[in-house]
Amino acid sequence: MNDILPGESSGWQFLDATLRDVVHAYGYQEIMLPLLEKTELFKRSIGEVTDIVEKEMYTFDDRNGDSLTLRPEGTASCVRACMQHGMLHNQVQRLWYTGPMFRHERPQKGRYRQFHQIGVEAFGMAGPDIDAEIIFMSARMWQRLGLKDAVLQINSLGTLAARADYREALVKYLREHESGLDEDSRRRLESNPLRILDSKNPDMQALIEAAPQLPDYLDAESRQHFSELCALLNAAGVAYEINPRLVRGLDYYTKTVFEWVTDQLGAQGTICAGGRYDGLVEYLGGRPTPAFGFAIGLERLLALLLAADTEIPSNQPHVYLVLNGQQAVQHGMVFAEELRTCLPDLRLQTNCGNGSFKSQFKRADKSGANIALVMGDDEAATGMVILKSLRQEIDQETLSQQHVAARVKEIIGLD
Ligand code: HAM
Repeated sequence: MNDILPGESSGWQFLDATLRDVVHAYGYQEIMLPLLEKTELFKRSIGEVTDIVEKEMYTFDDRNGDSLTLRPEGTASCVRACMQHGMLHNQVQRLWYTGPMFRHERPQKGRYRQFHQIGVEAFGMAGPDIDAEIIFMSARMWQRLGLKDAVLQINSLGTLAARADYREALVKYLREHESGLDEDSRRRLESNPLRILDSKNPDMQALIEAAPQLPDYLDAESRQHFSELCALLNAAGVAYEINPRLVRGLDYYTKTVFEWVTDQLGAQGTICAGGRYDGLVEYLGGRPTPAFGFAIGLERLLALLLAADTEIPSNQPHVYLVLNGQQAVQHGMVFAEELRTCLPDLRLQTNCGNGSFKSQFKRADKSGANIALVMGDDEAATGMVILKSLRQEIDQETLSQQHVAARVKEIIGLD
């Protein structure tokens, strides 16, 4: 679990602002969800025999003896909230959320125990058009952030019935080759055989390669859905790879699944993942409701931005106000407030706690400001201010206080 220090927070704010703009551009509304839910919700939604539920949840009993869990993801909470507030029946919803998620994984680069996601969920739309809209939205996010080399992988898992047929064929094949399976996979053979296809064990790759392929077992409806989605992606010029081994680590998916992957981040290269989960609402006790969504891992996305040397807008002050003398402090504090009123976008840091000129200039430099405004008791008495540029070749200027706003605006280029 990481602290995000002041030097890093501007990258987070930039990501947050850019991604918010994109989701709003598609008409999605924010839903703010609690960090804790009943443990049962995650067990049922994500699946009892997934890695998350088996080994990664932060679960504890509260004072009433109820088992609660820090959310490992947002989809289950979002579905729970929509059902609880009657938002699904005969309605469509386009929602997004952001915030920390918790998984007790083995930490490594790009994999943390507290990490952050922005997620999008759409309810009540069964066709491939909404799949495409949401994938377009993710593609637009990378475009807005200036990221070029993420690759889109898609697959279809079919309906639950088609998956059951495939599962039977897969288990039959794997049983015939049981001696080639590692311990983890043998354990999964009964409980979650599709996840065996996800195994990274190099000794099992040939065996997996030769296994029955999910696309051969797809039902006609899922096949049609998938080909219509591909046609929409083609028409919009969104490049993709079909990866028949993409199965995802959560149990709730049906039909379309997708991931955006990059080779820039080492082993943890998936920056965004999601898909369709038409059965989940009903499984949790609601009426049948089609649904589609994704979540982005923000730590990974930020690492990618930093690796690409993306210019991140700074939140450092534009101006540092140096105040020397008792009159200057009294007058300068009020002057600073007037300046902030006059220029609402100005970031102005006032020196507090006195100090010599030299030490105040050191603080001004450290603040990152472009300009120092200097007021001593003399300037306070005569209504003047000295303006010094800290980074550019501009001669020192002595201005009357009412002209400062216009000059500062000009130098730092505020709108
Ligand atoms: P997920 O694949 O478990 O899906 O997570 C989505 C993304 O969150 C991953 O691709 C990755 O970028 C990031 N992520 C996951 N675990 C970690 C971790 N330990 N450290 C850092 N980043 C991580 C879901 O969570 C689904 N709820 C997505 C979804 C929404 N499907 C439908 N709607």
